[in-house]
This record gives sequence, structure tokens and C-alpha cells, in this order.
Amino acid sequence: MEEILSLKNSFLEDSKSVNSLADLQQLKVKYLGKKGLVTSKLKTLSSIPPELRPASGKAVNEVKVYIEEEIKRKESLLKQEEHKRRILSEAIDITLPGKFTPFGREHPINKILSEITDIFVSMGFAVEEGPEVELDYYNFEALNIPKNHPARDMQDTFYISDEVVLRTHTSPVQVRVMERKNPPLKVIAPGKVYRCDADISHTPMFHQVEGFMVDTDIAFSDLKGVLESFIHSIVGIETPIRFRPSFFPFTEPSAEIDIGCIFCSGEGCRVCKTTGWLEILGAGMINPKVFEMVGYDTDVYSGFAFGMGVERIAMLKYSIDDIRIFFENDMRFLKQF
Ligand code: DAH
Repeated sequence: MEEILSLKNSFLEDSKSVNSLADLQQLKVKYLGKKGLVTSKLKTLSSIPPELRPASGKAVNEVKVYIEEEIKRKESLLKQEEHKRRILSEAIDITLPGKFTPFGREHPINKILSEITDIFVSMGFAVEEGPEVELDYYNFEALNIPKNHPARDMQDTFYISDEVVLRTHTSPVQVRVMERKNPPLKVIAPGKVYRCDADISHTPMFHQVEGFMVDTDIAFSDLKGVLESFIHSIVGIETPIRFRPSFFPFTEPSAEIDIGCIFCSGEGCRVCKTTGWLEILGAGMINPKVFEMVGYDTDVYSGFAFGMGVERIAMLKYSIDDIRIFFENDMRFLKQF
């Protein structure tokens, strides 16, 4: 009986140092396993005098049941603790501020490009595109700028090879469209162009919008009407407009179109170089030589064409004095549009 009692006491002592399910498993094996202390005790019952057996058996069994229950109780306690620990370690702090993804915005150049496009589309113009890597033929020759023509010096060209260039203007789209389609045509061609030039008013890549109209009986007055209407929409109806004689190989006659300086209202300032005028467009009546290149009958058809720099118009509209800022991708600048 004493041994049985000490078995229980030693179990109680041992169970004090159980802190994990693994410890508990060891304890269980030590007392209840096949060679465990309680199991061995049960086996010795047969060797004690028969009259003592019932009482001893009962006592060992009570200790066994006690130990079993104690282990079960301890097991569920340890499981609960472990669960709690896991929940705590996996906890998400919902008071932390979320990860912020800033909203993108339309680039100011794209904004002006869509404004320009919308104005011409509302006048019935269709939108066409052409390649940025262009044949010398379309960029120059078909536009009446043969090889070695001095007009090639007007544009600093990036040559890919003798016959391939990065287009220096959107005018080649005129030729590409006219080759594919017959008049009447009313088309604008917006896009990127490239010139080997970089300073406060030039970037190697910039944008132009080309436009042209071909039909029977197109006159210079049509050009004037369309461009005046466009300029009034884009910079305001009160802005004065001036047509000035100029030269382009692909138009004859040619003109440059100025608007009254919007910085000094025509009085003369640094931006307009004291002239009171700002150039915003090149234009003219399409040179019959260009029509001949695409096989149009020059006795039947006439047309006008124009080309403008998008950055230049954006700079005027937003009073920006350095073109390079458009492509520096400084969020402080871009966020303002
Ligand atoms: N392509 C010319 C340039 O980049 C601009 C231009 C002038 C286009 C007159 C035209 C035009 O269509 O008629 O400088």
C-alpha cells in the first residue's frame, strides 16, 4: 500500500515539471506505458498473497484511473495554451495604416493631344497613324525633299541606316494615307517624332499633330477657316491670329501661323522675343509634286496641310518655360494636371 501511495506521489512530483505536450507524452509513457510504473505494479499483483490482492488491486487501479484522468486534464490544458499562443503569434494588427498606392494621372501631353484630337474630330477629321521608324522615302523624298536638299538641314535626323530614319515629323503619314486612299480626305495624324536636339525648348522626342484635307476645290480659305476655328477652340476666341508667308518643300504656298503672345498680350516680352507673336503652326497648300508622288490628278484635286508641335501648345497653355520638364516624370509637376 505504501508503494502504491508513493507511486501516486512521485507522479504528482513529476507532473509539476510538465510544460509541454511532449513532456506530457513522456510522463504518460513513464507511468502508463507497457513497461510503465503503474503497468508493472499491476503485473506484480499476482505475486502477493491472495487475501491482500483485492485491496491492492483496487488501490493500484484507483491510482491508474487518477493518473489517466490527470494526464487527460493536463493534455487539454496544454492544448488550450498552445492554441492561445498560436493565435497571439499570428495576430494581425488592424490598426497599422494600409499600403498606399498613388493614383496615376493623364500626362499633360496626352491631355492636350486628346483636346486637339477632339476638336478636329468634331470638325469631321479622321485619325490615322504611321510608323515612328520610317523610310527616308516617306519622311523626305515623297515630301519633295530629295537627298542633299538643303531643307534636310532644317531637321536634325536620327538615321537608322541610309534608307531608314526615326521620323522627324508626322508629315510622312500624309503620303502613307494618300497612297492607300482616294479623296475626299480629311485626316489628322498625331504621334511621336524625333530630332537630334536637346535644350530648354527641344527634346529628342516630342509630339506633333499633322492634318490635311484633299478634295476637288479646296482653297487657302478652307485652310484659314479650319485653323482659325481650331486655334479659337484651343487657346480662346479672343486670341489674335496671324498668317505669315513661309517655306516648306511639301506645301506651296506655305505659311506659318502665329497667335498674339498670351504672356504679354502682344506688348512684347521675353517669351515672344518682343515681337508680340508666338508661332504655333506650319501650314500650306499641298505641293502638286506630293500629289504626283501618290498618283493623284493635280488638275482635279487640291488640298491643304498643317503641322503643329504638341509640347509647344501645352507650354503656352500652362505657362511652362522648359520643355524638358514634361519628360522628367517628377510627380510634383505631373500631379498638377
Ligand atoms: N512637318 C513640318 C515640321 O515638322 C510642319 C508642317 C509644316 C507640316 C507645314 C505641314 C505643313 O503639314 O503643311 O516642321
